[in-house]
This record gives sequence, structure tokens and C-alpha cells, in this order.
Amino acid sequence: SAHQWQAPSPTDSRGPCPGLNTLANHGFLPRNGSNITIPVVLKAINDGFNFQPINLLRIGAKLGLLTTDAEDSFTLNNLALHGTLEHDASLSRNDYALGDNVHFNETVFTTLANSNPGVDYYNITSAAQVMAQRLAEDKIVNPTLINTVKEFTVRIVESGFYLSVMGNVTTGVAPKNFVQIFFREERLPLAEGWERSEVPIGEDNFDTLLSGITNVSTWAPSGEVVCPWIRLQP
Ligand code: HEM
Ligand code: MG
Repeated sequence: SAHQWQAPSPTDSRGPCPGLNTLANHGFLPRNGSNITIPVVLKAINDGFNFQPINLLRIGAKLGLLTTDAEDSFTLNNLALHGTLEHDASLSRNDYALGDNVHFNETVFTTLANSNPGVDYYNITSAAQVMAQRLAEDKIVNPTLINTVKEFTVRIVESGFYLSVMGNVTTGVAPKNFVQIFFREERLPLAEGWERSEVPIGEDNFDTLLSGITNVSTWAPSGEVVCPWIRLQP
């Protein structure tokens, strides 16, 4: 069918966002990962994930435009521009300074994969612990690590993304199996029993989820870059 999973071809554009890569692999976004406009990406996120076009997503999509010289569209690979949306201490990709900030990296992902031992789900507490652990790991290996409040804010949102889209936006609980397939294969785990959120993910429930993660997070800025900044162009 139109939304069957299909692996990307070598010429299809993919990037550092497992969410958008997955939407392209299922044909909610153009499968070639190019010519992505704001309305196209917002509709894809809604169709694929039942995630409403809330302000946060609109801003994220607009920031995507800053990663390219094109006037009103981006490719999934454009999004890798370090310092616009792309940041260090990712959950599943290495730091820019360490070589490859785009492709899924199983070693990096081990921290999330192995979190919340003894149960078969991730939750708000484990997500916050994973964020702290990824940062601690990178402090050791990346002397150029950037960790201001901007990166922290974006990282909280991304943790909220996998908990809500692969799990439950109200409880913040997501089956490990679903989350792992999402990151490793950039596939919707439909065959494994995943269903698109029955509840629309929207402003109120998503904000509450983000507050929950923030509240159990231990975080402090670190490194030489202290002021949040945004790279405005390639
Ligand atoms: C990460 C862009 C929407 C899930 C990222 C990154 C970018 C990005 C540039 C890389 C950040 C980094 O880790 O360094 C966007 C844009 C979006 C969007 C422009 C649309 C406005 C979504 C949605 C989901 C999602 C709807 C839902 C599942 C994620 C996750 C990460 C991420 C889980 C973290 C990956 C990691 O830390 O390894 N996104 N994204 N994104 N995105 Fe998206
Ligand atoms: Mg990154």
C-alpha cells in the first residue's frame, strides 16, 4: 500500500531525525526525502503519528529551512547542519566532532537501549536518566561538546517525541520493542502491534509530558559555549 515501509534507495535523502526518516520510509513524506515544505512536514507528522501541527512543530519545521539555501523547502539530510537543530549528545547518533552526526549508531544507542532494566518499557524517569548519561559520556570524549539550555530544550522535546509517538503521550510510557525498532530500522512497528496514537498528540498533553521529563532531569550547562545560538545558514 501507499504507506508500506520501504528501505531508502542510495539516492534518497535521509538525516539525523529518526522521526522524519521513518515518515519518509513509509511514504508520509516524499520517499526521496527532498522538497520538504512546512505544510508537507506538518501534514506527514499528523497523518503518520496523529501529532497535531502545534506551535512547537511549526517552529521546528521553520528552523529546518535555516539549514539550506533553498527558499521554502529542505531535504532530510540538510537537517544535519550542526548548530541549527542538530546538536551533541544525541540518543542514536554520534557528535559532529566525532565524525558522523547523521547515521544511526548502535554504540551510541546502547545507553537508551539498555535503560530501564527489568521491565519492557521506557518512561519519563528512564528518558531523563538516558539524557544525563549521554551527556556524561560525551563530556569524556568530546572536548568541543556544546551543552547550553538550547540543546537541553531540544533534547527534552526529542525524548518526548519517542515516548509519545511510540508509546503513550499521557503516561509517557513506551514499549522498548517499539522504540528500538523505530530507532534501529526507522520503521513503524505495525507488525509488532504498534498503533498510531488514539489520542491526538497536541499542545496540552505534549507540554505536560515535556514538563514531566524536565522535572526529573538533572541538568546543568557545561563547556566553553555558554550562550544559546542558532546557525542561521549552511
Ligand atoms: C532528532 C528535525 C520532528 C523524533 C532530530 C534532529 C533533527 C530533527 C535535526 C537531530 C538532532 C540531534 O539529535 O542532533 C526534526 C524536524 C521536525 C522533527 C525539523 C519537524 C518539525 C520529529 C517528530 C518526531 C521526531 C515528529 C517524532 C518521533 C526525533 C527524535 C530525535 C530527533 C527521537 C532524537 C534523535 C537522537 O537523539 O538520536 N529531529 N524533527 N522528530 N527527532 Fe526530529
Ligand atoms: Mg546530534
